[in-house]
Amino acid sequence: MSLKLSDKKLAVLGAGKLGGILLRTYLKKGLFVSSRVTATVRHPERATALAKELGVAVTTDNRQAVKRADIILLSVKPQTIAEVLREIALHIDAQSLLVSVAASVPTSYVEQQLAAAGASSQVAVVRAMPNTPAAVGSGMTAICGGTHAGSEHLEIARSMFDAVGRTVVLDEKHMDAVTGLSASGPAFAYIILESLAEGGVKVGLPRDVATLLAAQTMKGSASVVLETGDHPALLKDAVTTPAGCTIDGILELEEGKLRVTLIKAVVKATSRAGELLFEK
Ligand SMILES: NC(=O)c1ccc[n+]([C@@H]2O[C@H](COP(=O)([O-])OP(=O)(O)OC[C@H]3O[C@@H](n4cnc5c(N)ncnc54)[C@H](OP(=O)(O)O)[C@@H]3O)[C@@H](O)[C@H]2O)c1
Repeated sequence: MSLKLSDKKLAVLGAGKLGGILLRTYLKKGLFVSSRVTATVRHPERATALAKELGVAVTTDNRQAVKRADIILLSVKPQTIAEVLREIALHIDAQSLLVSVAASVPTSYVEQQLAAAGASSQVAVVRAMPNTPAAVGSGMTAICGGTHAGSEHLEIARSMFDAVGRTVVLDEKHMDAVTGLSASGPAFAYIILESLAEGGVKVGLPRDVATLLAAQTMKGSASVVLETGDHPALLKDAVTTPAGCTIDGILELEEGKLRVTLIKAVVKATSRAGELLFEK
């Protein structure tokens, strides 16, 4: 399969929050051509609204959507994966690449469901775990390949997620941890950001200014880590003048157990990521 995505026929099954973010960005960037994209959702009225908004075919018929699709982006909820795979198994083209963004769903599970439902070929499956900052091109995605996914399939998946941010290729055993850190992480980061802004409001800043200061400070700090590769602790030390203001603030953070709370949040979200598939 060649790497040129604009020649490919794409089916996005489950164009909800995440699928919608990815699809909107692909269309905006011209990564895929609207005439070669079909999306699906559960509710017909949402299909109509989405088709009008995006200018692509949107249907509730997953079987129809995957016919002759080169790439199938599976973005339904983990609990809906089995149902959708059973529906499409007999209609997937032998050469198709199936990219699943569902949390908690191993590539082996996708392969087994397809085989059990009579899929005629050994479909290449790539599991991906993106996050919502993909909406502004600042996403973080980890990908891993299933049994029949070769390096060319991983390269195609990588280019789909590089278009919306950064991508790392990882061993599948790390995917729940990725879910707990970078996929859930934006929610944790928004709470930190909102709390910093509340602090600014408490000391008299207008709310819009406080939010701008908090957001740009978090963005800038993250950019320094990404661009220099320096350890965050060293960068923190550079802000912390002896007997200055920052060390007093850090003392409050330590007393409030911010570090341990964040570590536990990632651990809890990771273990929850292992459970979703088996819920009704
Ligand atoms: N949100 C995130 O931050 C995030 C991050 C990483 C990974 N993920 C993964 O992305 C997947 C989607 O999550 P989400 O947050 O985008 O959920 P969501 O907004 O609820 O989207 C799910 C979409 O699937 C559609 N759908 C439901 N049943 C369907 C069916 N049988 N056939 C076709 N479409 C169907 C729904 O249609 P209607 O709109 O008609 O209800 C909805 O558009 C999940 O597996 C999640 O683990 C999400």
